[in-house]
Amino acid sequence: RIAYVNGQYVRHADAAVHVEDRGYQFADGVYEVCEVWQGKIVDMPRHLDRLHRSLNELRIDWPMARSAVEFVIRQVIRRNRVVNGLVYIQVTRGVAKRDHFFPAEDVAPSIVVTAKPTSPAASQVQAEKGIAVVSYPENRWPRVDIKTIALLPNVLAKQHAKENGGKEAWYIDADGNVTEGGSTNAWIVTKEGALVTRPAENGILRGITRAVVLDLVQKEGLTFDERPFSLAEAFEAKEAFVTAASTLVMPVTRIDGKIIGNGHPGSVATRLRELFHTATD
Ligand code: PDD
Repeated sequence: RIAYVNGQYVRHADAAVHVEDRGYQFADGVYEVCEVWQGKIVDMPRHLDRLHRSLNELRIDWPMARSAVEFVIRQVIRRNRVVNGLVYIQVTRGVAKRDHFFPAEDVAPSIVVTAKPTSPAASQVQAEKGIAVVSYPENRWPRVDIKTIALLPNVLAKQHAKENGGKEAWYIDADGNVTEGGSTNAWIVTKEGALVTRPAENGILRGITRAVVLDLVQKEGLTFDERPFSLAEAFEAKEAFVTAASTLVMPVTRIDGKIIGNGHPGSVATRLRELFHTATD
């Protein structure tokens, strides 16, 4: 495998950043994960727009022109011969002697790009079974709209889920509402058949997969409601599912050990999963 690290393509085994990289010391950086499907990068413009926004919010410069980042992403995919997989892009504020204040202007941001193949067949097997999720108190900072590499709360939440028989954690805010998953956005389908997902302006990452699914939902003429929903409402839902570049539309069949719907992936989630790539850029 080959990785791109600050201007060079290197063997993945040798790919390293400096110990004084601010990503390593302060989690002072942002990232993107994009799906590669049938050799194409899914929704690249939307991912780079979100990367731009994340960088802006943290006042980190692009490490190089956006078009150059695009070129590198394509190179890394090609050099790793990835047909179906995931690309990871990370930009940090760069390497500087440890000091909380921003480094001098001449410190260049660091960039790393990696790509790995994934198995659509294995993911499909998972989707046909559905996953279990485990609730977890929302304990993250208020700026979860920025896709930062500071993922310790997400790591702890997901590990808790795993140790309790789940594949994903659902964060529950102080009002008892689901914000999102540890690395996914959360959805339910009500008994009346309406899709519900929390509005993007508050308490969640604006998932690209979420946005694509919302486009699909409108195209298909399904009823949907962007509003917060509670854990109690999710227990009673007809269906539940999560969305992310890494999972696409993934049905949820259990929440905190309670069976959702009939315990099998729902028809709405299954259909949205099938149609997903018809709605991507
Ligand atoms: N996670 N919410 C959180 C907290 C996430 O980390 C992610 C993505 C999403 C879904 O966003 P998108 O649809 O753009 O992938 C929602 C990536 C895949 C990860 O950390 O691996």
